[in-house]
Amino acid sequence: MKIALASDHGGVQLKESIKKFLSSRHVETEDLGTNGTDSVDYPDFAAEVAKKVSDGKVDAGVLICGTGIGMSMVANKFKGVRAAVVSDTYSAKMSKEHNNANVLCLGGRVSNPAQAAELVQAWLEAKYEAGRHEKRLQKIRELEGKNFK
Ligand code: RB5
Repeated sequence: MKIALASDHGGVQLKESIKKFLSSRHVETEDLGTNGTDSVDYPDFAAEVAKKVSDGKVDAGVLICGTGIGMSMVANKFKGVRAAVVSDTYSAKMSKEHNNANVLCLGGRVSNPAQAAELVQAWLEAKYEAGRHEKRLQKIRELEGKNFK
């Protein structure tokens, strides 16, 4: 499994800790920046990861900004991307079991490294339940094809 990661300046430290956590779990990662604490714009980094997920170049993505909110807004513009902002392990698990989230968005100013590792683990270990949820994901796919204003 390969996971692409990116953050803005608000999430760069948490990104490093998540990378280490994933590596300890033998998950391959691709770090798409940012790599310093200079202020950058989260849409630029969210788009890099979301495009890779949308194109099937990686299996999933993890995005971190100050809250995770901006990253999720951008990532969910990409076809086939289901990005979830989480800060508790129940939601992290549900985001996979019910929503089959393929991008996890975390807040570098919300979760500490130990909490973030638990969130990523809960999401990674959970299995999409499909069944009744599949028709709902299909409805999301149908909405993606429409040009709402
Ligand atoms: C940057 O200060 C902050 O706005 C950003 O990291 C993020 O929290 C946006 O959603």
